[in-house]
Amino acid sequence: MEVRFKDLSLEKVKTDLLMLPVKEKGTEEPVIRRLDRLLKGRLSERIKKSRFTGAEGTTLLHSTGGMLPVSHVLLAGMGKEDEIDVDSWRKVAARTKKETSGIGAEEIAFFVPPGSEAIAAGAIVEGVLLASYQFSKYKSDQKSPPELKAITLVRPGLKRTATMDRSVRLAQDMLPGVFVARDLVNEPPSITTASYLGRQAEQHCRGRGLSVEVWTKKKIQAMNLAGLLAVNRGSVEEPRFIVIHYKPPGAKKKVALIGKGITFDSGGLSLKTAKSMETMKLDMAGGAAIIGAMSRLPSLRPGVEVTGYIPTTDNLPSGSAQKPGDIIRYLNGKTIEVVNTDAEGRLILADALAFAAKEKPDCMITLATLTGACMVALGTEVAGIFGNRQPLVDTLIGCGRDAGEKLWQLPLVKEYREEVKSSVADIKNVGGSYGGAITAALILQEFVGDVPWAHLDIAGPAFAEKESPTCPKGGTGFGVRTLLKFLSTF
Ligand code: BES
Ligand code: MN
Ligand code: ZN
Repeated sequence: MEVRFKDLSLEKVKTDLLMLPVKEKGTEEPVIRRLDRLLKGRLSERIKKSRFTGAEGTTLLHSTGGMLPVSHVLLAGMGKEDEIDVDSWRKVAARTKKETSGIGAEEIAFFVPPGSEAIAAGAIVEGVLLASYQFSKYKSDQKSPPELKAITLVRPGLKRTATMDRSVRLAQDMLPGVFVARDLVNEPPSITTASYLGRQAEQHCRGRGLSVEVWTKKKIQAMNLAGLLAVNRGSVEEPRFIVIHYKPPGAKKKVALIGKGITFDSGGLSLKTAKSMETMKLDMAGGAAIIGAMSRLPSLRPGVEVTGYIPTTDNLPSGSAQKPGDIIRYLNGKTIEVVNTDAEGRLILADALAFAAKEKPDCMITLATLTGACMVALGTEVAGIFGNRQPLVDTLIGCGRDAGEKLWQLPLVKEYREEVKSSVADIKNVGGSYGGAITAALILQEFVGDVPWAHLDIAGPAFAEKESPTCPKGGTGFGVRTLLKFLSTF
């Protein structure tokens, strides 16, 4: 998709569709009046009849009937003026893209009001690209909408600046990584096995500075990743430990990314209900986000060394499965009593954290669909973030805000460590009935040492249970853009 910038007045715009952003109660703004005059009052008539006010999420599509070179005008509600942010632009652009597949538009022009181009340019491109994602390989009546060939950002006097160019390029560079992550999550769980995930990492993470190592069960045993082996015991599939490494010349700092890669979470012997298992192919979304993000590094070229670690297996019950009461001894010497086999994410992340911490990275970030409790606390739009260094947490929250991925900090309440004390081992893998997202994070913290660390519990936003303009039902690729923004800060 080509992105153009044009210094043009409205009557000269010649595309299939012209989108005009309208803030709430903003239907009397000068641009709209002007357009209305060009359309001989037809537009204000439509506005009146439809009661379009510019409320967020509403649109009004108007055919110009040959009165202008552009064939359709779409008024798109931006919502209340003081609530408009980057994400409003992303969403409105996505909605525009969706509305226009109905009229077969191949080229859309977006009117960019004065002063908003700095935040709007990249966000519009991102919104349009996000809206174009589909997972239709298993649909027999696959009808792909007409491909959007170009978008034009337009306004009389619009100047293309380096900042605008950069944000547009960044959006175009990041989005394929989001789609890689979405595809990996959406693929059926009997396809996305641990070995499949390893092959996908090898396939996607290629190019300058990137290398991938996929450890087999033998190597995992030799390296004594006890948590991964314990969870894998119920499975007929072999586990994998994926290590993706990116090293640009001259990098001074190194970051470790650790992603949960449970390819299907049945709960193990502590079996889930049928209902709560329905979407459990999502449980490798953390790992998928790391593969997706790292696949873009050769193109984005951040000046920091990055190692991605993805412990991966499914969590199934069988005669050989681990049992409640079992104890795992980790490579840092700590022991965990497995009270509930459904709290498996922390068991495999503990290995990866202990292993990654030995390399003394400047910081570590875990990404995991870790707890239903985090969903209860923050819903499906917001991920929980924990950390042992406030500046790292603040930076990540800021990157998330820019990326349109909401992060809300939850506390590592040290008093709750009491909850995970075990009578037979150092800790047990579940706490009491309350604060489950926090106790899970506290368990992870046992394996972090004093390395600066942040943990993102993405159980809510990793998977969309209903479609939205920016994402169909299924994997969202949550985390990819936050990670890439974060890595770009080095
Ligand atoms: N993968 C789940 C968490 C999850 C739940 C992710 C819903 C996405 C949506 C995790 O392995 C799990 O089962 N957690 C348990 C922990 C409990 C047994 C302490 C949970 O949250 O119920
Ligand atoms: Mn589980
Ligand atoms: Zn899980």
